[in-house]
Amino acid sequence: MDNSIVFFAGSSHPELAQEICSELNILQGEISIKTFPDGELSIEILEDVEGRDVFVLQSLSGHPSHYLMELLIMIDALKRSSARNITAVVPYLSYCRQDRRDKPGTPITAKLVANLLASAGISHLITCDLHSDQIEGFFEIPVTHIHCQKLLSEHIKKMSEDNFIIVAPDMGSLKIAETMARSMDAELAVIKKNRLNAFDVDMTLIGDVRNKNVLIPDDLCSTAGTLVSAAKLCQEKGAKQVIATATHGLFVSNALDKIESSNIAFLVVSNTIPSHSLSSKITYVTISTLLADAIRNISKQRVNFSHCC
Ligand code: R5P
Repeated sequence: MDNSIVFFAGSSHPELAQEICSELNILQGEISIKTFPDGELSIEILEDVEGRDVFVLQSLSGHPSHYLMELLIMIDALKRSSARNITAVVPYLSYCRQDRRDKPGTPITAKLVANLLASAGISHLITCDLHSDQIEGFFEIPVTHIHCQKLLSEHIKKMSEDNFIIVAPDMGSLKIAETMARSMDAELAVIKKNRLNAFDVDMTLIGDVRNKNVLIPDDLCSTAGTLVSAAKLCQEKGAKQVIATATHGLFVSNALDKIESSNIAFLVVSNTIPSHSLSSKITYVTISTLLADAIRNISKQRVNFSHCC
């Protein structure tokens, strides 16, 4: 049992918390998370964390604002209990899609969330596939940014022997698609996407997918509008089979029905967000090893640092 790692989890993703603890061979820190009669959160750390390096897991999906507040309060409680360092482990960091002002009167919520986490007291963030790499720069603390394309592509290679062309479903996903293409030694094409509203998109394919198997990777699948429209377009342009990956499977609204009735043969997602899918087309791949490795590395560096200084 590794006693150097103190690990707490919020209430958003108990299965992943358990998986990480098993990987690290540690027990979860005891914490009480309740609600006051007026709806406010009541949180109490039930372990001695004085002078310890602490890790806190919370994935900000499902009820993003609630879970963010829960995380901020946990960090505050840990800081006031004299934890030495607090690392937030946030596999899915919500509010990141608003990472720039595209019209007057709008906020930059990604920067706001970075500010909130920093002022609450974290000294390090571990997260997976941020909506854009530049969001890392919104934090004045170290960010361990885990990219999940290798994990997802390795799973695809196990499921299918075929060669693929990788199609980025929009310009924003080009970097992810490039990483995927490199890891699968595949060609690359891209779709130019114009979002008409929260649910509808207009798309143009740049590249040739005729008679090819297509793999469409995205950072997240929310309403599934992007992946389903991209898959339909690829089929119309002559693709043989279309499969897809997404790091974050939010699956809001009727996303699962849309995927079921689409031409996507199967979709592989990571479990940054709890799996609630009953769709036969969706396979989950766990990121627990990647997160446990990141936690172990940070913990080791801290132990080495405290021994040498
Ligand atoms: C867009 O910039 C993102 O990379 C995703 O393509 C998008 O957010 C997915 O949303 P939906 O599933 O609702 O189309």
